[in-house]
Amino acid sequence: MTSRRAALKTLVLGALVACDSAVARLRGAQLVPIARIDDVKPGLGLRTTHDETPLILVNAGGEVRTFLAVCTHQGCPLGWNAAQQLIRCPCHGSAFNTDGRVVNGPATAPLTRMETIAERGRVMLVVRS
Ligand code: FES
Repeated sequence: MTSRRAALKTLVLGALVACDSAVARLRGAQLVPIARIDDVKPGLGLRTTHDETPLILVNAGGEVRTFLAVCTHQGCPLGWNAAQQLIRCPCHGSAFNTDGRVVNGPATAPLTRMETIAERGRVMLVVRS
């Protein structure tokens, strides 16, 4: 019984992901793979780029979130501090939590969150033209 429920749950989740993907494509968006979901393990952050745009992915309790990896203070590149579980700026010390909110200034504005979906084990950036 439990395995049937698990199989049904997997099937439903797969259908929901497929629907998200189909909806994005129908709206004219492009889906660009930027990482494997397995590469963004809980408690870790991952830096990558898309068309030279720096991105940082963090796993917040199983949810992978993607932000523009540019500090909102003066534009320095951001990195992940695993010990603090914070996105940190090396230039003047700003820190952002996994929601992208400022937890330490001088930055005052939150990070720009990028729209992504999970599809076939990958994190897909939704690029709208
Ligand atoms: S540029 Fe990041 S804290 Fe100043």
